[in-house]
Amino acid sequence: MSKKSPVSRSGRFASGPAADVAQFTESISFDWRLWEHDLLGSMAHAEMLRAIGVLTKKECTAVVRGLDAIGREIKTGKFKWKPELEDVHMNIESELTRRVPAGAKLHTSRSRNDQVALDVRLWLRDEIKELLKEIADLQRALVSLGEKNSAVIIPGYTHLQRAQPVYLSHHLLAYVEMLERDCERLWDCHSRVNICPLGSGAIAGSTLPLKRELVAKLLGFVDDNGKVQLTQNSMDAVSDRDFMIEFCAAAALLAVHISRLAEDVILWVSAEFNYIKIADAYTTGSSLMPQKKNPDIAELARGKTGRVVGNLMALLTLLKGLPMTYNRDLQEDKERLFDTADTVRATSRLMAAMLRHTTVNKVACALAAGDAALLATDLADYLVKKGMPFRHAHHVVGAVVALAEKTGKSLNELKLPELQAIDKTFGRDALNVFDLKTAMNKRNLTGAPGTKEVAKQLIRWRAQLS
Ligand code: ARG
Repeated sequence: MSKKSPVSRSGRFASGPAADVAQFTESISFDWRLWEHDLLGSMAHAEMLRAIGVLTKKECTAVVRGLDAIGREIKTGKFKWKPELEDVHMNIESELTRRVPAGAKLHTSRSRNDQVALDVRLWLRDEIKELLKEIADLQRALVSLGEKNSAVIIPGYTHLQRAQPVYLSHHLLAYVEMLERDCERLWDCHSRVNICPLGSGAIAGSTLPLKRELVAKLLGFVDDNGKVQLTQNSMDAVSDRDFMIEFCAAAALLAVHISRLAEDVILWVSAEFNYIKIADAYTTGSSLMPQKKNPDIAELARGKTGRVVGNLMALLTLLKGLPMTYNRDLQEDKERLFDTADTVRATSRLMAAMLRHTTVNKVACALAAGDAALLATDLADYLVKKGMPFRHAHHVVGAVVALAEKTGKSLNELKLPELQAIDKTFGRDALNVFDLKTAMNKRNLTGAPGTKEVAKQLIRWRAQLS
């Protein structure tokens, strides 16, 4: 048997794999990053093997020390990964066994099928927690920008046409709400990631009296009430990737939300809007046009959404039609998962940093928000308050808008007699409707962009995110 043959072929195979087979089947080039979690899982498994008498106390100590030493070498880049050993699991196990004879007992009642499921669950548990922190930081950056510009009003848009005035902070808080739902989904997903599959073996558990609860407890697989979380079906446990798909789905929605924010930033920073300015360090230049300053962070955040959505599709397609239970196809899951986690984490971080280096052009915002047409609906509401049915009021104000257009005036430049020529209901106070400050003070429904309400929401979020 060639030296280049992994332990999985020992005894049964006459030769090692052909070079191109080894290259085609290896996963070490990407699953090496599971090393820390692989070590933790192995240490817990070793403790359990000691508890049931498979390892002596001495052997267990030697194994744990050996794993620990390997961990230190990996961390400092000294460990030599061998592609011919296929994956992270066999690389670590065979190096351990080379150093510590009792390492040969470590794989008792364990298969790479339950091992890889365990490693990925451990890894993803940590990733979700880190991602949640990064999303919270992006939320804080949005709240800060809102607080710093709490008096700034901009046009709100529907169909990308000016619709009604809103506080800039109200617009920013809309994203804070979206991101909060993303956090809730990710945390919900975490509860299904946080279940221990070890002890499922290759497919059918083990004939040895493993203590699954002990392993799960050692690895922190417990719910909020401290109840140990174990997978309940060995076949499901080794082939289930729902938890990854759920994560990638929640991450895809997060990416979509960030992409929408990115799109707003890109519009706002354009000369046409000119609502915001991004600091030089967070923009890029053009190789040809010296005057350009481009919002590349936001563009890439928007662009990277494609791969995050693609990763979700890849995983769904990977699972579709797979017979029970573990199939090597499942090795294809990791790069998609890693890419999604890396991408949404980096995107959240960079968008937060960019927003912290963004200033608001108050003059341009005031100019845009000063467009009296934004208050046409308020004028209709005025007529409603005087008893006119809304449909009728909508028609009357439509006529007022048409008149303004025809005479080249803005709505608030029309004179009372002109309004009254359209409808007698207009009184002296009609034109007061166009006082923007007063208009904003009137929008006080829960969730509305009114002065008091937005201030309340900013305070709520600041407290919730601190
Ligand atoms: N590298 C494999 C994966 O990522 C580990 C499990 C392999 N199991 C097996 N029976 N070949 O899925």
